[in-house]
Order: sequence, then C-alpha cells, then structure tokens
Amino acid sequence: ELRSPPQLREVAGIPLQATTVDNWSQIQNFEAKPNDLLICTYPKSGDYGTRGEQDLGLLSQHGLLTSGTTWIQEIVDMIEQNGDVEKCQRAIIQHRHPFIEWARPPQPSGVEKAKAMPSPRTLRTHLPIQLLPPSFWENNCKFLYVARNAKDCMVSYYHFQRMNQMLPDPGTWEEYFESFTNGKVGWGSWFDHVKGWWEMKDRYQILFLFYEAIKKDPKHEIQKVMRFMGKNLDETVLDKIVQETSFEKMKENPMTNRSTVSKSILDQSISPFMRKGTVGDWKNHFTVAQNERFDKIYRKKMEGTSINFCMEL
Ligand code: PPS
Repeated sequence: ELRSPPQLREVAGIPLQATTVDNWSQIQNFEAKPNDLLICTYPKSGDYGTRGEQDLGLLSQHGLLTSGTTWIQEIVDMIEQNGDVEKCQRAIIQHRHPFIEWARPPQPSGVEKAKAMPSPRTLRTHLPIQLLPPSFWENNCKFLYVARNAKDCMVSYYHFQRMNQMLPDPGTWEEYFESFTNGKVGWGSWFDHVKGWWEMKDRYQILFLFYEAIKKDPKHEIQKVMRFMGKNLDETVLDKIVQETSFEKMKENPMTNRSTVSKSILDQSISPFMRKGTVGDWKNHFTVAQNERFDKIYRKKMEGTSINFCMEL
C-alpha cells in the first residue's frame, strides 16, 4: 500500500509539516515566558498519542528527530519530579512537554497546549534557530540542546521514516543518503541545525549536550542538566534517574516507548521506536565509499565550527 504523499512544505527553505506551515503565524507569535525551559533537538520529534484510528487523517505528524529528544525529555521530567517515577507516569512522554510547532486542527495546537500549561513550563521544539519564535530570545529563556553525531542520526532517522507511516518513505539507503545530506528531510539540514544552535550557545542560556556524552557518563550529564535547571538532588535520587532513563528501562516503559501509538501510524514491527540506542550503529550501515563521501560533506558543511562529536564509544 502506498503512503500518502509527503506533507512537507517549506518555510524559508526548511521543509516542515504542512499543518505547521498553515499555523505559522500562531507559532511565530508564541509568547514565551522568562522561566520557560525549551528542549531543542534536530528532528525525530513525535507527538503521537493514544489517539484512535479516527484521528489518523490528522496525524501526519512525523517526528523527524533521532537526537535523543525522548531521552532528554524523560531526564528533565525525572529531575522536575525529584525522581518520582509515578509522577513521570502521569502521561505519555509526547504529552508532557508541548511541542510548539505541533498543529493538527481541530486538536489543540502545541502553542495552545503551552498556553494552557502552568509555569514553570518545559516545552520542546525541533526548529532551527532562524525559525524559532522570537519571544524565546527576547525573554532570555533557558534552552537545552541535544546533538547526536550526524551518521547515527541519519541511521536512526532512516529507520524512523521506514516505520512511520505518516512520513515520506525514505526510499533505499542510498536514496536516503542524498535526502539527508541535502537537507531534504523534515526540519532541514542536520548540519545547519547543529551549527546554528552551537553558534548561539554563548550568547544565550543554552546548555549544549551530546547524546554520546550522556551515553558515556549519564550521571555526570544529568547533574549538568540538574544544575542548569536550578535543582539540587541528592546522590540516591540521581542514581535512580540514571537507572530509570536507561535505554533498557525506557524501551519497556509504555509511557516512553510509543507502544500506545496505533500501528497504522508507527509500525514497530518494521523497526521499533526504541530501536538500538547505541553509538556507532552507522558502521553497520555506511559502506566505505559512503563513509568517505559523508566525511567530505561533513568537513565542508561544518568548516570553521569548533564542534566535536564522538563517533564511537
Ligand atoms: S523523536 O521521534 O524525536 O522523539 O526521536 P528521538 O527521541 O529524538 O530519537 C530517538 C532515538 O533516541 C534513542 N533513545 C535512546 N538512546 C539511549 N538511551 C535512551 N534512554 C534513549 N531513548 C531513546 C532511540 O532509541 C532512537 O535512536 P536509535 O539509534 O534509532 O535507537
């Protein structure tokens, strides 16, 4: 069965969901508050819920990330809830932090959900810096950015597009290589996204994290997040957060593993949402020639940037 045509349209050269584009003025006029915390990642978003089949037509949402959005969301929520697992079970992860560019009428949009939320709010976005609603900058909000190395990100995104029936079919791995490196995927170019946020990090309150670093030393990175959020939790709570936010735990947790989402939207028999959660899976996908070509593209696109990714652990 053929998938419906991709519902992406461009805003200033960045492919976004058509319904997001339809709602663009509401998104751009979003009123941030100074104590908002915004989780920012390059796609693989995912605001799927426990909605039934009847909502299918409205759900062309594609999480387009693959950068550890879900992971950092759970970490932030565990910190906010002082390590109280039950409180983190109050709703599926997609519903705990409004996704500001989400728009699927007649459901309340991400902006409307955020408006209805009491402060202090934690929100999330996949927007590149140039498309972020200006009030976030004007209010000097806190931003938590998670970056993941481009090769693993591309692999994860590819499998996500395979299983996400609301996303364009990724085509062959070779074809996807072209789409990804040319920024012809939702939320645009990985290179521009990461570079853009990296270059902003010293001008605003941005905690810039790496997926690979969280993987290597979760406690250390979680502590950074905790301090950034102005919290102070003791060692036992921190250890509990490390445990509860491990890939293994989150893969089994129905509030984080997207198991409540209809198979007609996310077909986890094709590829699970919580797929591997590792660093270096790109080596199982890239040919030697592709790897060389990718490195060349990477060097060119990231020239002059001091960012340094760990590609293997
Ligand atoms: S989405 O759709 O935007 O929410 O996707 P996102 O959460 O950004 O990315 C999904 C990838 O993150 C992995 N993941 C984790 N890795 C390690 N530890 C934890 N706890 C964790 N939770 C999610 C998930 O498995 C996807 O990566 P891959 O490489 O595909 O497994």
